[in-house]
Amino acid sequence: MKRLVIILIVLILFGLALPVSNLVVGLPANSITKAKPDNPLFAKALGALGTKCVNCHTPEYTLPFYAKFPVAKQIIETDIRQGTRFINYLEELFPQNGGPVTEPLLAKTEFVLMDKSMPPMRYLALHWNGGFTAAERDSVLAWIKDTRTKHYATSGVAEPFKNEAIQPLPDTPALDPAKVALGNKLFHDKRLSKDNSLACAGCHDLQKGGTDQKKFSEGVGQKFGDINAPTVFNAGFQFKQFWDGRAATLEEQADGPVNNPIEMASNWPEAIGKLQQDAELTQAFQAVYPQGYSKETITEAIATFERTLDTPSKLDKFLRGQADALSPEEKKGYDLFKAHRCATCHAGKILGGQSFEIMGLYKDYFKDRGNPQKPDFGRFNVTNKDTDKFKLKVPTLRNIALTFPYFHDSTISNLQEAVQTMAKYQAGKTLSEGDAASITAFLNALTGELNGQPLK
Ligand code: HEC
Ligand code: HEC
Ligand code: HEC
Repeated sequence: MKRLVIILIVLILFGLALPVSNLVVGLPANSITKAKPDNPLFAKALGALGTKCVNCHTPEYTLPFYAKFPVAKQIIETDIRQGTRFINYLEELFPQNGGPVTEPLLAKTEFVLMDKSMPPMRYLALHWNGGFTAAERDSVLAWIKDTRTKHYATSGVAEPFKNEAIQPLPDTPALDPAKVALGNKLFHDKRLSKDNSLACAGCHDLQKGGTDQKKFSEGVGQKFGDINAPTVFNAGFQFKQFWDGRAATLEEQADGPVNNPIEMASNWPEAIGKLQQDAELTQAFQAVYPQGYSKETITEAIATFERTLDTPSKLDKFLRGQADALSPEEKKGYDLFKAHRCATCHAGKILGGQSFEIMGLYKDYFKDRGNPQKPDFGRFNVTNKDTDKFKLKVPTLRNIALTFPYFHDSTISNLQEAVQTMAKYQAGKTLSEGDAASITAFLNALTGELNGQPLK
């Protein structure tokens, strides 16, 4: 009897010890809690994120002592694996390029703080001190606002939208008109292809939303590619080029198709040889580039032209303060777009183009579609990192009504169906038909103007 009482007391004490020790010890430290940034707002936000969030959002975690118990270890490790799949804070809070954190990171963090979905409920049940206090939330929101104002707000955006994830396009940059004109000519010049049959514009038709509106593009010699051709409109606003981001700039990108055996199937010496026989073009080219034709000068001219292909729309008027620029239905769609998480990835000036994201976060897209191919592996094809498998660059949604079919694999042609697919795989929900229709109406309002001419 005496022995039983002792065992009982030990058990009770042990049961109490878990949460109590957690209360005293707190969560294990990670390298973020040791970082000392200059910006006091960032320092404060890091203090909160570092202690309450980062442990589940980094592969470099330290397990707390109670993870020694078998069931606890399993639960914790599953949370960390899943949390890090969604977001790797340790990596993203300190971008390797030394620049500010990305717009999607700010938007995602803001989203979960506003709807209070993080830290997860099941975790808070075990960690009495794990929740975010109002002061901690305010400190992170203040840092988000500060970062946006300093780095991302478009000059001329109306005051209420300054601190929002989506920003209007800036005014078209003033670029050397002679360079732009040359770039325009070369973009439409079929001599950049082996058999003089195909220009850049052949797959990026400015009358077709800057795409070919085909499932897969047809290159020289009737060879077909294996990935959807994205639009060249507003492409200069992307953080990297191609679905897998293998080109850092538009200049670097323009080198790709000329040499690609299933696209233009040529090379620079051959293409330049043909251009040199054109006296008029050569003279105009040398007036701008005295050094003459080269991979560098030609791709620079083309990229400069591409930087003029910005297409402002009704949304930009709205964000610049014209409240009736969007119809009530489009405005409702915009609010739903934000409320359903869409703007956490489709963020910034072109509603996308700022991050790689796993396609199929909430549900396995490739298992449902079947037969995964090399292009589906996305960013992994460039970095060979396991965590980059199935990560694709988030496409811009500007002019989306014109850039069908949708997704890198061109599996869907109907825009409202694409919206439902996104809700299911990237936001973990099914939208009502009404909500999907409103969001689609908003997306249709993103069709813009090119040099003052409405696109269609
Ligand atoms: C116990 C581990 C854990 C903690 C602590 C935690 N998270 Fe998470 N987080 C997850 C998991 C797991 C997911 C995946 C989605 C889900 O399960 O809801 C996730 C998802 C997210 C997402 C992506 C949501 C989406 O759908 O886009 C963000 C952003 C996020 N967490 C931020 C935070 C922030 C900020 C904190 C601190 C306030 C935090 N997390 C604390 C485990 C955690
Ligand atoms: C045979 C069709 C074809 C031709 C010709 C072609 N492209 Fe593309 N373009 C594509 C495809 C397909 C992709 C996507 C490839 C990928 O991501 O792997 C692409 C991607 C791009 C991108 C990146 C867009 C983004 O969102 O990442 C730009 C910019 C671009 N092309 C410009 C050009 C220029 C400039 C030329 C001429 C020098 C050109 N393209 C010629 C089919 C073509
Ligand atoms: C977690 C990030 C994420 C979220 C959240 C998200 N998207 Fe996407 N979106 C992507 C990625 C990545 C792709 C490209 C997927 C592919 O090609 O396989 C994409 C593609 C699309 C496309 C097709 C674009 C094209 O040119 O092919 C549409 C339309 C779209 N998203 C709309 C939405 C809507 C509407 C929502 C909200 C319900 C949403 N997205 C939420 C990441 C996201």
